[in-house]
Amino acid sequence: MINIIGLGYIGLPTALMFAKSGEVVVGTDYNTDLVNSLEKGILPFEEEGLEELHQKALNNGITFSTEYQKTHTYILAVPTPYIKESKKLDPKYVISALNSVLDVCDKGASVIIESTVSPGTVDKYVRPEIERRGYVIGEDIHLLHAPERIIPGNMIYELEHNSRTIGADNIEIGEKIKGLYLNFCKADIVVTDIRSAEMSKVVENTFRDINIAFANELAKICQMDNMDVYEIIRIANMHPRVNIMQPGPGVGGHCISVDPWFLVGDYPDLTNLILTARKINDSMPKHVLGRIRDIMREHNIKDISKVGLYGLAYKEDVDDTRESPTLQLLERMDEHLAFGVKVFDPHVKNSVVDYQSANFEEFLNEIEILVIMVGHNHIKENLNLIKSKHVLDTKNICTFEGVYKL
Ligand SMILES: NC(=O)c1ccc[n+]([C@@H]2O[C@H](COP(=O)([O-])OP(=O)(O)OC[C@H]3O[C@@H](n4cnc5c(N)ncnc54)[C@H](O)[C@@H]3O)[C@@H](O)[C@H]2O)c1
Repeated sequence: MINIIGLGYIGLPTALMFAKSGEVVVGTDYNTDLVNSLEKGILPFEEEGLEELHQKALNNGITFSTEYQKTHTYILAVPTPYIKESKKLDPKYVISALNSVLDVCDKGASVIIESTVSPGTVDKYVRPEIERRGYVIGEDIHLLHAPERIIPGNMIYELEHNSRTIGADNIEIGEKIKGLYLNFCKADIVVTDIRSAEMSKVVENTFRDINIAFANELAKICQMDNMDVYEIIRIANMHPRVNIMQPGPGVGGHCISVDPWFLVGDYPDLTNLILTARKINDSMPKHVLGRIRDIMREHNIKDISKVGLYGLAYKEDVDDTRESPTLQLLERMDEHLAFGVKVFDPHVKNSVVDYQSANFEEFLNEIEILVIMVGHNHIKENLNLIKSKHVLDTKNICTFEGVYKL
């Protein structure tokens, strides 16, 4: 039996996928409401294909519990935030989940950390904790790190098709756990040491952050001198070895905007490029704020409540708002006492911020300036409804005349 600890964006689909592939799975979360909902068939977030997968997993006998199970295989998919001041990883969720597992596990159990962790976390925090509890690593407990690469919005497909990395102290145990993931993973699985698995995961997200920062910096340069950044990127990308990403209103989510900070926190003297990229991406909501100010001035609009932000999620077609550029922008506005801006997101059903509209047409009726912060399919399908507004399109999805870009 596999006991998966933490049933969030990563743990839940992973648990369902293992169950669908025929493994006996118990999903454990200390959030009682979440466990109760899952038992009733209610899912905590939207994700393409998740309902069907949930049903298949239930048919195959998956159960959900607040209890940690006595078994031989554990997967930990708990949060790994960073500490705002020091930028270092906060291991408290991993250590707490680990201790709960150590309370009940079989001798010789494999503990697989799926959470993204900064390089060295296992050596610095996890091993000492296991030893402090009197267990011998390699005999009583086998340690592994199998970081996850899936992206919200395409999780189910990517669980099956992304290649994976498994870091293990003992290659034989690594190969055994690789066999477990091969139950559903159709792609390559590399077995390596734990340090390399930790580092490669953080490096992947840092690479993306840096590349997005380059596009964002270009957007600022082009805006300053009235050049079309999208046209310039399109042309530059025709070069066979150039592949510039698209600029945007900022970087959010639980991964790309978080993981590079682990390296900055641990290697402050060596991370000039990484830190600069983080700063550029974090500055984008302020850049959007400046663009809104320009448009308000140009049209002599003085009332901020005439501005509407479309999209609260951190990316298109999902309901996850963590670290989202819109939330970052609202924070900036708040600092400047710009209260009352309207907000709408078709995917975010619960009320996350003040002045959040539940109805798109009502939202449009109240505003004169529409700021597209997220390129949900919903807005792409409703472009005809927004043509009468002054539109600031930070996602480059509108092709009609008079649209303002980043
Ligand atoms: N969300 C993503 O797109 C994504 C992608 C790749 C990797 N990751 C990594 O996966 C990890 C999990 O992220 P997430 O987005 O799934 O987080 P999440 O916040 O959606 O879910 C975490 C869950 O863990 C539960 N939990 C926390 N501590 C627990 C404990 N001690 N015992 C039982 N349950 C506990 C919480 O109640 C929550 O339901 C993080 O390290 C993250 O960086 C996330």
